[in-house]
Amino acid sequence: MPSSTRSQTPKQAEANQPAKLIDLQPATSLHVSEVLQGLQRSPKELPPKLFYDEVGSQLFNQICDLDEYYLTRTETGMMWECIDEITSLLSSKRLLIEYGSGSSTKTKILLDHLPRLTHYMPIDISQEHLLQSAHTIAANYPHLTVTPVYADYTTNLAIPFSAKMSAPKMPRLVYFPGSTIGNFHKDEALVFLKQVRDICGDGGGFLVGVDLVKDTDTLNAAYNDSQGVTAAFNLNLLTRLNRDVGADFQPTQFEHKAFYNEERSRIEMHLVSKKKQIVHLADQAITFEEGESIWTESSYKYTLQAFEKLITTAGFHPIKVWVDDQQLFSIHYLQT
Ligand SMILES: C[S@@+](CC[C@H](N)C(=O)[O-])C[C@H]1O[C@@H](n2cnc3c(N)ncnc32)[C@H](O)[C@@H]1O
Repeated sequence: MPSSTRSQTPKQAEANQPAKLIDLQPATSLHVSEVLQGLQRSPKELPPKLFYDEVGSQLFNQICDLDEYYLTRTETGMMWECIDEITSLLSSKRLLIEYGSGSSTKTKILLDHLPRLTHYMPIDISQEHLLQSAHTIAANYPHLTVTPVYADYTTNLAIPFSAKMSAPKMPRLVYFPGSTIGNFHKDEALVFLKQVRDICGDGGGFLVGVDLVKDTDTLNAAYNDSQGVTAAFNLNLLTRLNRDVGADFQPTQFEHKAFYNEERSRIEMHLVSKKKQIVHLADQAITFEEGESIWTESSYKYTLQAFEKLITTAGFHPIKVWVDDQQLFSIHYLQT
């Protein structure tokens, strides 16, 4: 073994490790009944959380790098540009809780500028991806206690906070970037935001990235990229259902469709059946007519006024909003 490799071993052994995974069991067995219910509904509908197996998470990362997908580029640019102003409002916080943390990429900008944070709790439904990101963050921020939570945040989370994390001297900051809030229908968003408010607790803060209403062409291009990555991300759901719940979809017999529904201010993503066909799942036969679709995701776009109304109804106090020069995206800071 070369001496350079030998000398790295003790360092690696000392590297900060994440705390034990908190497994709130977003159970796969539940998915069978959930999937079946969704496919037996009219119109057929499945929740977007099902996109995020290991392949889906990788494909989402590729989407973030696409030219057409202005969301990640714009939000990340805003974080860098406004970071001093943002962190001046957050400097009292000690515990950072992130919903749908994924690769924790934007989080690193916060972590680099908030040295007094002591605890980081990433929450995600994509277990492998969550664990990988938690390891990377722990290794790069040796002072942080990193506690990954494997959970479905669309359920009311009962997070078992340690006594240290529950202490009054541990003001919380919840972070929810990526405009993932847009994946909730409006009534669901209100229920979810009230739950986030409870997790923030008294004296807590909430930093959330929200995509804005804009011209239809820009929106349609963002969800119909020229390289077909978003189509692959959407279609991977069928491959996942075949593997995880024993369905027999033929993914080549479906196609990706995404469009902006102006009346509802949302992108709708669908998987459209190319022909009349029957799919089997858990002893049930599900018929698809030619052109019939499964609605796989909504991505609501907000005006600043509409989001402020929603968030105040949920019990938050708006403190500051940042918007980029082109008015594509917004970042909101709210307090309880
Ligand atoms: C749109 S991506 C955003 C990722 C990252 N926060 C960003 O800003 O780029 C959504 C993330 O939320 C996770 N996710 C989706 N639905 C979830 C759910 N119901 N519960 C927990 N995590 C979920 C996905 O695995 C993914 O990492």
